[in-house]
Amino acid sequence: MQTAIAQVAVLEVNNGAATLQWTRAALLTQTTEIRIEQDVTYRRAMTYRAIALNKLLPHAEQYGTVQFVAADGFVANIAGKDLAGAGQAYLAIETPEQAWPAIDTDHPQKKLSAGPYYLVWGNPKAGKIGSEQWPYQVVKINVVRALSERFPQIRPAALPRASYPAALRGMAMYTKHCSVCHQMNGGGDAAIGPDLNLPYSPSDYFQEAFLKKLIRQPQSVRSWKNAQMPGFDRAALSDQELGDLIIYLRHMAKQQ
Ligand code: HEC
Repeated sequence: MQTAIAQVAVLEVNNGAATLQWTRAALLTQTTEIRIEQDVTYRRAMTYRAIALNKLLPHAEQYGTVQFVAADGFVANIAGKDLAGAGQAYLAIETPEQAWPAIDTDHPQKKLSAGPYYLVWGNPKAGKIGSEQWPYQVVKINVVRALSERFPQIRPAALPRASYPAALRGMAMYTKHCSVCHQMNGGGDAAIGPDLNLPYSPSDYFQEAFLKKLIRQPQSVRSWKNAQMPGFDRAALSDQELGDLIIYLRHMAKQQ
C-alpha cells in the first residue's frame, strides 16, 4: 500500500555546535541509489535514494552519541563510532515521486511509511548493527552527550569490584540495544517498554535462564499478538555480551 507523503520535509541536524535545516530538495542533490539486501523494517530487499551519513555529519566517530528522533518522539541513540564505521550508514530519503510502502498495515503505529528519512546500513554485519539501529520516520538528528552522562542513574556503582568491568560492558549493551525502548531507574529517552529496574528488576523476578530466553526470543516465554519487543539472537548479542547484560541488570537491582 502506498501512503501519502508530505511535500515538504525538513530534516534538522544539530552537531552540538550548530543546527542546520535541510530541505528534502537540498538533500536529494547529494544522493546515490543504494540497494539494501535485507531491510530490517520492510523485511525484504529495498532500493533507496540515500545520502551517505558522513556527508550530513562528518567525523561522526568523534561524537559519543547521536540521536535519531522520529516524528512521534521515538529516539534511537547510536554511537558515533558505529555511524562512521564499517556498517556503512546512509540516510534514505523518501520522495513524492517514489513513495515507500506502509511499514505494516495491520499495526496501528505502522500504517505510515518509514519516511521522510530512514537510517539504513549498507553492511550491517560488518558494523555489528542491530535491528533497533534502523530508526525510521526520522525528522531530527542531534549530537548529544552519552546516555550514562545525561542519566547517571543508569551507571553501575563500582562495588562489588570483581563484576564491575562486566557490568560496565553490560551497560554499553543496554545503551545500544535496550535503551531505545526501556528506561533504567527512570533514566532514558524512551518508555515504550517497562522500566528495567523500577519498581523491581527483572533479574529479581525472572530466573536467569528465563530472562536470557526472554531477551533472545520474548515470544518463547510469553506470547501475545501485540507484543513489541524484538528478540536478540547471537549475531546481535553474543553469549558473553548477554552474560554481561545480565550482570549489569543484577548490579542495578541493588541500586534502585
Ligand atoms: C523495540 C523496543 C524494545 C527493545 C529494543 C527492547 N525491549 Fe524489552 N520490552 C519492550 C516492550 C514493549 C516490552 C513489554 C512486552 C512487549 O510488548 O513485548 C518489553 C519487555 C521486556 C521485559 C519483560 C519485563 C516484564 O516485567 O514483563 C524485559 C526483561 C525486557 N523487555 C528486557 C529488554 C532488554 C534487556 C533489552 C535489550 C537487550 C530489551 N528489552 C529491548 C520493548 C523493547
